[in-house]
Amino acid sequence: MLRDYQYYREIFRGRPLPFAYVDLDLLEENIRLTRERAGGTRVRIASKSLRSVAIIKRILAAEPTFQGIMAFTAREAVYLARQGLDDLLIGYPTWHAEDIAAVARATADGAHITLMIDSQAHVEQIESVARRYGVRLPLCLDIDMAVDFPGLHFGVWRSPLRTAEQVRPVIERIMSSPHVWLDGLMGYEAQIAGVGDRYPGQALKNALVTWLKRRSLGEIAARRAALVALIKEYAPQVRFVNGGGTGSVHTTRLETSVTEITVGSAFYGPALFDHYRDFRYQPAAGFAIEIVRRPHPQIYTCLGGGYVASGAAGPDKLPQPYLPQGAQLITTEGAGEVQTPIRYSGPVALSLGDPIFLRHAKAGELCERFTHLLLVSKGTIVDEVTTYRGDGQCFL
Ligand SMILES: Cc1ncc(COP(=O)(O)O)c(C=O)c1O
Repeated sequence: MLRDYQYYREIFRGRPLPFAYVDLDLLEENIRLTRERAGGTRVRIASKSLRSVAIIKRILAAEPTFQGIMAFTAREAVYLARQGLDDLLIGYPTWHAEDIAAVARATADGAHITLMIDSQAHVEQIESVARRYGVRLPLCLDIDMAVDFPGLHFGVWRSPLRTAEQVRPVIERIMSSPHVWLDGLMGYEAQIAGVGDRYPGQALKNALVTWLKRRSLGEIAARRAALVALIKEYAPQVRFVNGGGTGSVHTTRLETSVTEITVGSAFYGPALFDHYRDFRYQPAAGFAIEIVRRPHPQIYTCLGGGYVASGAAGPDKLPQPYLPQGAQLITTEGAGEVQTPIRYSGPVALSLGDPIFLRHAKAGELCERFTHLLLVSKGTIVDEVTTYRGDGQCFL
């Protein structure tokens, strides 16, 4: 079915704007492509890139190899456990004692929530709360996957743990404690998974990033394998070795030491993921803003739209006009807090009250702007589900 401007305009005719939607048919294609790219390796769902319990549940139900959630805060993980979701790995460290206490209480009630650590200080902070609650909390060791080139740190600044010498004392600290245990290992190769290498008009940068990615892969695999071997000296039964993200599924899966790959953005297929050489996801999620004025024959100014993505600021973090095809933001204004002018000179006749469809640059952040997602399939709205915001939740 052709997904052009008329297709979506008809589906949403009469709906008050702005609204966000998920095209379930395209979501299904993204699920299929993710399964194919993972090639049998288990996929853990990154909730930060979905931020809707209904959508997370739908994706988990679609595929038996999709198992477990990577949550992004302790309170979110506890919230998801209350919604009936299990095997929750918090992808980032938790420090505040109250947040750890929330995990301890959920654990006492039977939830499996794994806390992320990368230092003895993290272990000791968690241990002190676990002791108070009389529970043993599962931990995941986060190892750094960045690769240094002369003058360039290729990767993110997160975990300080890279070498066996750095990791060993942290493992030994975990093993010596009756209040925590080692559940898994994670290494997120952000420079492969989260950096595009096919930006239009940036041939030189694309070539450099492609070269850097290729050069990093061997070191990433070797480092991960060595640290997995080290961990297995202490905890041979360690439950999982997690790696990757949407942008690296096809390379992470080749590492024999990896047991699961985290994927989130692939499902909505946001605009930033259009710029990868090795895959293309479908634009399953989007939002619509309403044309409310026409200051020039080819400029349609809409209400709202300024849903800019996080990360290093740049034009690629702006929402991208999607339909009608050829619609563009105006460089001097971008996407505005209350008004977004759209330049369009194509064949579709646009009137006041018509929608302009846009895609967020990132995936889950869209849901922080809307309480609901309209679910669309085969030309109609089939359901409406809440986002975290619609549930009255705001985690990050
Ligand atoms: C720890 C971790 N794993 C995996 C991912 C991949 O998420 P996505 O598939 O949405 O890119 C991220 C994204 O930032 C992350 O921080």
